[in-house]
Amino acid sequence: LSIGPGRTNFKKKPVIIIVIGMAGTGKTTLMHRLVCDMQATNKRGYVVNLDPAVMTLPFGANIDIRDTVRYKDVMKEYGLGPNGGILTSLNLFATKFDEVVSVIERRADQLDYVLVDTPGQIEIFTWSASGAIVTEAFASTFPTVVAYVVDTPRSTSPITFMSNMLYACSILYKTRLPLVLTFNKVDVAKHEFAIEWMQDFDTFQTALESDKSYSATYTRSLSLALDEFYKNLRSVGISAVSGTGVNMFFEAIEASTSDYMETYRADL
Ligand code: GTP
Repeated sequence: LSIGPGRTNFKKKPVIIIVIGMAGTGKTTLMHRLVCDMQATNKRGYVVNLDPAVMTLPFGANIDIRDTVRYKDVMKEYGLGPNGGILTSLNLFATKFDEVVSVIERRADQLDYVLVDTPGQIEIFTWSASGAIVTEAFASTFPTVVAYVVDTPRSTSPITFMSNMLYACSILYKTRLPLVLTFNKVDVAKHEFAIEWMQDFDTFQTALESDKSYSATYTRSLSLALDEFYKNLRSVGISAVSGTGVNMFFEAIEASTSDYMETYRADL
């Protein structure tokens, strides 16, 4: 494994990659791809599954919330629906999260990356106290990066794209961690349009002008505000299915980690 030059001064610690994305964006498929790639390239990885409701995983998880909490039992016990059951399961697991961190710390010098899969319903992780506890527990101990997964084919309309970027922006502000915009499914739709829209304000405006609705006017002002957000991000196009872009994904993770560590977390 080649690690970025910025990280060579730090004690050897794995980079935690928290994979966040809306339902169906391909988080689990991406995790599987990353696990396979790490095995093929001798990167030493560890996998944490935080989705209590997932039926089957295509990869083995080293730490799995389902081994500790059964979300269907939680639903019955507390009289909850599926989302309440998942949220409460994550809350229960979060109370023991220091143990998860300790397990990883004990293996720290033998690991390059820890991949963390989050629940399918994005807000259960991003807008919950337990999501914040888990994120902070990782970030205070290890270099931690968020991979925000975007369903590229479903983001080709300028307004949908803008909504998705606003969501990514809110995650950046909530977690205060480096974020890699991970445009998935580029085998179906290439992500060049997104890069262009993020780099060239006028191109995005032209795309918006084809939509005369109220929200297009609103989006114009929002896109100005997001300009600053784009400048502080790394973006990568990937196909979890074909494997295109995996190398660039790891490069973006390393570069984001180095920047962040040098600027904010020299203590790690
Ligand atoms: P939830 O856990 O339900 O939120 O889903 P997820 O975000 O984990 O997505 P999942 O990995 O289950 O993928 C959703 C669908 O997208 C599946 O049908 C995948 O086969 C498909 N998919 C994922 N990645 C890719 C990709 O890179 N290309 C294509 N063409 N399809 C993909």
